[in-house]
Amino acid sequence: MIPREKIAEIMDATNIEEVVSEFVTLKRRGVNLLGLCPFHNEKTPSFTVSPAKGIFKCFGCGVSGNSVSFIMQHEHYSYPEALKYLASKYNIEVEEKEETAEEIQAKSDQESLYAITNFAQKHFEQNLWETQEGKNIGYAYFKERGYTNETIKHFQLGYSLKQWDGFTAQAQKAGYKKQYLEESGLSIYKTHQSYDRFRNRVTFPIHNVTGRVIGFGARILVKDKTKPKYLNSPESLIYNKRNTLYGIYFAKSEIVRENKCYLVEGYTDVISLYQAGIKNVVASSGTSLTENQIKLIKRYSNNITILYDGDNAGIKASFRGIDMILEQGMNVRVVLFEDGEDPDSFALSHTDSEISTYINENEKDFLQFKSSLLINETLNDPIKKGEAIEDISNSISLIPNMLIRDEYIKSTWESLGIDQQKLSYRVAVLRKKRQSKNTPQTPNEITTNPTVTSNVQQKITTTKSLDEDHMIRALVLYGRYLMDYQTEDENKISVSVAELIINEILYLNYEFKDITNQLIFDKCREMIEKGHIPNEDDFLASENQKIQEKTIHFVSEKYDLSKKWEEMLGMPVKTESDQYKLLVNDLIWNIKLKLLKEKLLDIENQLKDNHSENIEDLLIQYQKLKTDYSEINKTRGRIISDN
Ligand code: CTP
Ligand code: MN
Repeated sequence: MIPREKIAEIMDATNIEEVVSEFVTLKRRGVNLLGLCPFHNEKTPSFTVSPAKGIFKCFGCGVSGNSVSFIMQHEHYSYPEALKYLASKYNIEVEEKEETAEEIQAKSDQESLYAITNFAQKHFEQNLWETQEGKNIGYAYFKERGYTNETIKHFQLGYSLKQWDGFTAQAQKAGYKKQYLEESGLSIYKTHQSYDRFRNRVTFPIHNVTGRVIGFGARILVKDKTKPKYLNSPESLIYNKRNTLYGIYFAKSEIVRENKCYLVEGYTDVISLYQAGIKNVVASSGTSLTENQIKLIKRYSNNITILYDGDNAGIKASFRGIDMILEQGMNVRVVLFEDGEDPDSFALSHTDSEISTYINENEKDFLQFKSSLLINETLNDPIKKGEAIEDISNSISLIPNMLIRDEYIKSTWESLGIDQQKLSYRVAVLRKKRQSKNTPQTPNEITTNPTVTSNVQQKITTTKSLDEDHMIRALVLYGRYLMDYQTEDENKISVSVAELIINEILYLNYEFKDITNQLIFDKCREMIEKGHIPNEDDFLASENQKIQEKTIHFVSEKYDLSKKWEEMLGMPVKTESDQYKLLVNDLIWNIKLKLLKEKLLDIENQLKDNHSENIEDLLIQYQKLKTDYSEINKTRGRIISDN
């Protein structure tokens, strides 16, 4: 295995132009490079390399990716092989970490469990389609629920026979070991006998993101108050309820395509909606939503729409979970179904187009929905009203992006019957409270790695600190300048450069590599929280000598910099301060792109085990990052940068 930090180094050192040039003759075309696509036959070049973005794309055959995926596809290398190729190209030494005995054991335990759940899935499916009992009971039940054969096959639904050990006996005969049968939860061993967990039920296999079966849900078919309606696999090495979403494997590419994920309650809702053509749907089945489940969705989209059945208690119980989604910086909407209806029952009694029309027409912004729901309940009771306002303020305060928070304050204060300023103040206080609870982290020193050639190391550290310095420079020199920002409802608001930068840095969770930069940032944030927007004089007057020196450097440098910016922006620049909006806009845009790059890296890290099944997931997530890219471009447009 290649260590995580190593992959980061390799990616940092890699230059796509150099990588591709070894195999393709490239000609410069504006900011990009153009050549004949090596992946399909063509006479006119449509293979494009963007050195700035580090990616390639062929407009002829659609193949695209970064340096690693280029090498993987061109040389038919596995992911680690491609990394090793790049490492040697850039003289980076890679010593692979030896796997420990425990790691090897854990891996083989895991594989054994996968093998058993896979066997079980096939077994249950076979029962359903090929046994008389399965056909008469299980298959008939699914038909009654309105599932087509195609749907039943797609979700690999099955049936467990009305026998004590129909599955266990067969599995043992096929050579599966008792230890794993027991650990998977599919078989239960008592001193003198063993039996199946699932008997006389229809089975819903639960897949992980790569499509492997990790557990089952199983529904009873008769009315029996003494038995649970649904039985589920227990947690195991491969099945963790809190990290799993039912349907994610089938939904993920559709989630990316629609840039939205529908969240429902259970198996049947997922399946019915899927059958009705709404395929970007998952369920948290059984548990209340967890942070890991939210992060799983966030890999594919930033937009979640929750489909509720019309039960008030249930809705309110879900509010806490939704706060977590807001905290992740995601956009949340809700659709409410009439009393007594859930997505599954609604889907059964309506046509496909009625369903999608209903969902589209009833989709509401979550915070507006929550405000009106809570306020309607207060019935002029001032204490209850106060509680409701506090609750909404808290939800708004969790949103990491200042500009989006402001938009919510603007769109909810009226319905809450409270002054905008007051709501804004309350949100600020709640944020501050939370921030002081989370003690600030001290910045990390740059970790130098002795195995990297000094040349490469220098390249990495200088590019990193350069970005940071630009950001801090703008903070110091232009902190009080105003940026115009276009809100979603077309209003123009003004925000100081300092507030905007602080907001973005906090939102992105960026940690400064340089201690002085971090100090300046913290100072600035502190002053803003006290209501004072700093300018260079505040930093010149700092007691900290490092801050002072850096500020002096910025101020004196300011006068001969216009040339540099000319280079960076690729256009004539009068003076830098004339162009500060453009400059700040670019800095923010750059740091967002950087974060995107880190996310890409993260995806690549997940691939290092090189299961071919993971590669498909990488590509889907890669697609999501492209959506992010265009979203960044959209917000870029919303900062009005014409000076
Ligand atoms: N569910 C569960 N455990 C239960 C009840 C429900 O996990 N004890 C989940 C299932 O995923 C189910 C969803 O919640 O798909 C909806 O619940 P419900 O409507 O009660 O289940 P159905 O199978 O649709 O039953 P019915 O036909 O009575 O509507
Ligand atoms: Mn139901």
